[in-house]
Amino acid sequence: MEVLLKSAEALFKESKNNTSLLANASAFIMHTIENLNWVGFYIYEDNALIVGPFQGKPACVEIEVGKGVCGNAFKDNSVFNVPNVHLFEDHIACDGASNSELVIPLVKNGNKIGVFDIDSPIYNRFDKDLQNFLEMFAKILLNYYHE
Ligand code: SME
Repeated sequence: MEVLLKSAEALFKESKNNTSLLANASAFIMHTIENLNWVGFYIYEDNALIVGPFQGKPACVEIEVGKGVCGNAFKDNSVFNVPNVHLFEDHIACDGASNSELVIPLVKNGNKIGVFDIDSPIYNRFDKDLQNFLEMFAKILLNYYHE
């Protein structure tokens, strides 16, 4: 996992803007971690979360703050690890293949940027190790995010 974080950082260093940074970040995770069906970013803009660079099937364009797993994680500013999305009352089903989901809020220098959203077709996909890895990945990514 340490090696993967090092390669990810090397990739982030090359990114000249946020689009290339987030596009490569989503592709990196989709192609290094098994059993994922959607990996991407929702960026906070005009009081809503708007879909940003991602890998996977076309997704909901806009999510209200406080709605769905993404909107709740953003509002509460806390990581949401949902082992079975069908039991999460407010889950927004963008891709019917998703069965578990991890959402990591992105905050840089106190500014709420958006969320990093990762979906899996496997129930309970995000164990502690994988969650820690993805949180570290997001933390390093934020160092390269241009505000
Ligand atoms: N399931 C998310 C919506 C985004 S998609 O998974 C890409 C949610 O409930 O917020």
